[in-house]
Amino acid sequence: MSDVVVITGASGGVGRATARRFAKDGAKIALVARGQGGLDAAARDVERLGGRALVLPTDVADADQVEAAAQAAEEELGPIDVWINDAMATIYAEFLDIEPDEYRRATEVTYHGMVWGTRTALKRMAERNRGTIVQVSSALAFRGIPLQAPYCGAKHACKGFTESVLTEIRHNGWDVHLTMVHLAGFNTTQFTWGRTKLPKQTQPVPPIYQPEIAADAIHWAAYHRRRQIYVGWPTVLNILGERVAPWFLDWYLAKTGYGSQMTKQPLNGGPSHDNLYEPVDADEDRGSHGPFDDKAHSHSFQTSLTKHRRLAGSLAAGVGAATGAVLLRKR
Ligand SMILES: NC(=O)c1ccc[n+]([C@@H]2O[C@H](COP(=O)([O-])OP(=O)(O)OC[C@H]3O[C@@H](n4cnc5c(N)ncnc54)[C@H](OP(=O)(O)O)[C@@H]3O)[C@@H](O)[C@H]2O)c1
Repeated sequence: MSDVVVITGASGGVGRATARRFAKDGAKIALVARGQGGLDAAARDVERLGGRALVLPTDVADADQVEAAAQAAEEELGPIDVWINDAMATIYAEFLDIEPDEYRRATEVTYHGMVWGTRTALKRMAERNRGTIVQVSSALAFRGIPLQAPYCGAKHACKGFTESVLTEIRHNGWDVHLTMVHLAGFNTTQFTWGRTKLPKQTQPVPPIYQPEIAADAIHWAAYHRRRQIYVGWPTVLNILGERVAPWFLDWYLAKTGYGSQMTKQPLNGGPSHDNLYEPVDADEDRGSHGPFDDKAHSHSFQTSLTKHRRLAGSLAAGVGAATGAVLLRKR
């Protein structure tokens, strides 16, 4: 299989790990982000693993740049089979500490970046009546938490937007697969370069998972016809909790949501660079992992269950039936 795959946000974090996953298939991968150092290193990763890489420095908040990236990818690699919207920018701060321009920028990258990526990919895929678009989403698309209002708002918007487009694809009968992968907390570069106004080092809400798990789930979602998949138990619990008792989550998150997003390490004024408006130092490569390798899980049992839900369902039914039979015999 040597599909043509476009990945936004490929210079670090989940996007970078996803590029490595597709490279193992020998895919031709267009790497979209802004930081040249991270993009060049991602290209080396891809080539080393057997894929072909094309580096396309692009700001996803700019619809024209996204369109130009798609055009360049098709000219160089061929028609796009899979488009993955992964890029994002966040700000860790209380809502009232965020300036309007910062808020707007985080929204333009995280929400509009996904909108422009979907638009440019769908235009081409609808015409050819084939292709897959994967939206890298979050448990926070279902439930907002403190200190991340721009991100939570954007991720909710991404979900609503995707559902709207999904119904239009169905209405038109296009054989284009649009799917969402909702992630829990991952150990990524986000926690080294995301803008923060908090007094301590930011962290994903534990339990923390390694980005390879997300990459594997995104790859799986690209080749299976599921509407959406959840990755990590916290995602499932968050979504269930929000459906059953949102008032409880309001209380719980007000109590724990500040502490759970910060380590004990003071930041002393925050990182000198962040990637909200510009990439961090142009030539620097930070890889895909964040600073939590010692805490992060390399396996998600829940994600394995999600992928094999029929088997898991049959096993659960089998165990239930066997237990019932034993109990009946004992009576
Ligand atoms: N990590 C988590 O805990 C977590 C949890 C749930 C969902 N997710 C989702 O996973 C995805 C990736 O997150 P991550 O944690 O891997 O983030 P990350 O480490 O910060 O990586 C974000 C990527 O987006 C790129 N990017 C940022 N602004 C951009 C812009 N204006 N134009 C183009 N590219 C831009 C960054 O590269 P440049 O700066 O070089 O452009 C980088 O490659 C996001 O959709 C996020 O919502 C993550």
